[in-house]
Amino acid sequence: MLGPPGAGKGTQSQRIEAARGLKQLSTGDMLRAEVASGSDLGISLKKTMDAGQLVTDSVIVAMISSRIDQPDCANGFILDGFPRTVAQAEALDTMLEERKMRMDHVIQIVVDQEAMVQRISGRITCEQCGTGYHDTFDPPKTAGECDKCGPTNLIRRSDDNPDTVRARLKAYDEQTAPLLPYYQDRGVLQDVNGMASADQVATEIAGLLDAA
Ligand code: AP5
Repeated sequence: MLGPPGAGKGTQSQRIEAARGLKQLSTGDMLRAEVASGSDLGISLKKTMDAGQLVTDSVIVAMISSRIDQPDCANGFILDGFPRTVAQAEALDTMLEERKMRMDHVIQIVVDQEAMVQRISGRITCEQCGTGYHDTFDPPKTAGECDKCGPTNLIRRSDDNPDTVRARLKAYDEQTAPLLPYYQDRGVLQDVNGMASADQVATEIAGLLDAA
């Protein structure tokens, strides 16, 4: 699942996981779990993430490589936020080849990047189950409660401030956008309109998945 910060990669990956039983693998969530653990690695990751920069390829590739071997990935998985550089895409090809797995879809959620600062600054997430909401566009049914968990903490990410979001968008343009021709040249890149409502985007993605 490709797209700039705020495009809706996590939102749509969660929906696909719920509808189709494929495991959502979000590199951002994995990194935030490492930060929350308070490890030395986590402390150094937090500095990189709060600066809006990408974490080094070697850390990310090792993380995904061991994660896809877990039993909950046996029926397939959705890569949310990975790959993010050409080097990561090449490493993914090797990982899949070694395991005799194939990639069925490469979906790009296309958005107007200028609108993403507003989208990201309104994002809130359930601390317990990780379900994502938006203050305006996708609020929980009852204010202050998660639709699944009930009363809970709805938290904001430390990198969801305007300065860091701009740095993240810059990193996307410089390091991740070059990945698009990598998949375009192979004829596997499929675009969806990420400026539509989350429900409409989900319907468009479901159409692509069902067409295969
Ligand atoms: P990561 O957690 O992956 O963040 P990101 O790519 O910046 O993406 P976001 O999570 O901000 O956006 P999203 O596209 O998932 O949108 P969402 O669905 O939440 O990465 C964080 C950091 O970790 C990076 O900066 C980097 O440092 C590091 N990192 C991670 N992976 C890495 C890698 N592979 N290599 C190196 N470093 C890596 O939606 C956003 C908001 O909009 C939500 O509130 C949602 O409710 C709302 N929304 C969603 N869809 C719609 C819609 N259609 N209309 C209106 N609102 C919508």
